[in-house]
Amino acid sequence: MAGSIPREFIDDVLASTDIVELIDSRIPLKRSGSNYKACCPFHGEKTPSFSVSQVKQFYHCFGCGVSGDAIKFLMEYEHTEFIEAIEELAQMAGLQVPKIAYTHNTPKQVPEQFNLLDQVTHYYQHQLKHHPQANKVQQYVQQRGLSADIIKTFSLGYAPPDWDNVLNVLGAEDRTKIQTLFTTGMLIKRESTATDDHRAYYDRFRERLMFPIRDRRGRTIGFGGRILGDDKPKYLNSPETPLFHKGQELYGLYELKQAVRKIEKVLVVEGYMDVVSLAQFGIHYSVATLGTATTPEHLKVLFRLCDDVFFCFDGDRAGRDAAWKAMNNALPVMKQGKYAHFMFLPDGEDPDTLIRAKGKLGFEAEMEQSMTFSEFFFDQLVKQVNLNTREGRDKLNYLSKPYLKEIKDNAFKDLMKTRLEELAELSHGEKQRLDTDLGVNIGGNKAHYETQKHSFNQPRQAPSTVKKVISYLLQYPQLAKKAGDPGRFLLLEIEGIRLFVQLLDLLQTDPHLTTARILAHWQESEHYQYLTQRAIEPLLIDEKAISSEFNDFLQLFARQYQQQRISQLERKERNQGLGVLEKKEYRQLVYSKTLPE
Ligand code: UTP
Ligand code: MN
Repeated sequence: MAGSIPREFIDDVLASTDIVELIDSRIPLKRSGSNYKACCPFHGEKTPSFSVSQVKQFYHCFGCGVSGDAIKFLMEYEHTEFIEAIEELAQMAGLQVPKIAYTHNTPKQVPEQFNLLDQVTHYYQHQLKHHPQANKVQQYVQQRGLSADIIKTFSLGYAPPDWDNVLNVLGAEDRTKIQTLFTTGMLIKRESTATDDHRAYYDRFRERLMFPIRDRRGRTIGFGGRILGDDKPKYLNSPETPLFHKGQELYGLYELKQAVRKIEKVLVVEGYMDVVSLAQFGIHYSVATLGTATTPEHLKVLFRLCDDVFFCFDGDRAGRDAAWKAMNNALPVMKQGKYAHFMFLPDGEDPDTLIRAKGKLGFEAEMEQSMTFSEFFFDQLVKQVNLNTREGRDKLNYLSKPYLKEIKDNAFKDLMKTRLEELAELSHGEKQRLDTDLGVNIGGNKAHYETQKHSFNQPRQAPSTVKKVISYLLQYPQLAKKAGDPGRFLLLEIEGIRLFVQLLDLLQTDPHLTTARILAHWQESEHYQYLTQRAIEPLLIDEKAISSEFNDFLQLFARQYQQQRISQLERKERNQGLGVLEKKEYRQLVYSKTLPE
């Protein structure tokens, strides 16, 4: 993610942004001492515990614990991706995002593609009301029970009957435009060899109710079009284009993000009409895949937004098959703390008909009946075996294994494994074999997990001295100026010291960094959380006392290093003896230790 945008550019963007201004334009802030306050937009509260610091360029909520810089705020508040947040801030600051961020497209053509699709959307919207034969589509819309409001929210439109509407109105006999309309899937090329552009292409969508498909920023990237009756094909969709990738996009995601501030769950359905209908009746948190099965990419996007994803399927055989496929695609993405739920509709219903019949509450009551991931998974497999026999239980073990292997998250794999062990009543030996087959260390799965987290010099367990100097430096970066050469602490063997040295080094190179900009340097690192904690830690003494304590700590570190080196040399002396220079060093160390400070 961040890899495609140069570090320096992120720095520039943060340096040109004022977080107070940014947040204040979205949620009004009130001054409070040296900070600004508001009710936290990320959790419900009545008294403000969301605090924004201008000096640190950082926000923090004392209620729910969220914190971050301007980029993080935009990502969380507007549910955007990292790159999009950078783009938005860059745009506000009048900075040009380096081209490197776009690798798939030549930048000049892309805005033009978006621009034309936007015009097509407006054109279709206009036709829905004003085309001479609009009464037919109006009748259809009425018959489907779509309100004027919801038509507007989803920007539904009408593609009129003729073969050359988009071609004429938006192509406007302009070769480049026609080419772009073709690239974006709005026009189809004729088989014939007509040289005249006008005869070489025709409109893909004719006489259909049009559903614009938007990307996460609300730009149209493609369309789905429904026929106004029972003809076939019922739906026609834009083909894969440079802007439109069915395996990645979800219909309704933009509208969802507009409607729901705090996304707690997402419901994945099959049809465009389902999403629109659900929203009309108050369920604003649904999206549809685009005529494809749910891909791992889809699920990754959704799990980034929330912890609970509900998949909705027909109750019939085809629905179960589709659910199994979705489950399969979910395996590599599942992890502890993220939940997939499988909801099966009553026979003959789809979400559109069900919500019209039962309303929001009735529909949500059905959702409550969903199966969890492991329930659905084992339910399907258990159906194929007889658990009352040794062979049946053995078969369950055998059938499950290849699926469990697909799970990447150790904690989730553990959970599924335990369930399998229970159901198949595995013996100790069988459990061990299962562990080996699944690539899990015998009995050591958890331990392995832990050691990874606490590798050496992971400052999680740093002594309070190191914690304090890091907090001081992050909150008062100017302390770095008089701290002297950071290198002299590098060999000191205490947890977290290397991070402190890096921090000091960074601040001496660039003394004007704010807290937020310093943290941005560790954005993708395992230390990010730790540093964030240090940055928001309340410091109970004033700046002068901090400065003096900071210097005391530096002297302490210097003495500790002296002592460490003395012990090292003494050990070496005992084991293998010291060289001439080492002897000299030792004498100096011991001598200077006796000097008063
Ligand atoms: P459905 O056949 O379930 O239609 O297709 P629906 O959503 O209930 O539509 P209505 O209520 O009859 O209008 C579900 C989804 O499958 C894709 C579309 O994305 C559709 O929303 N589909 C379906 C196609 O792409 N082409 C088709 O011909 C049919
Ligand atoms: Mn339907």
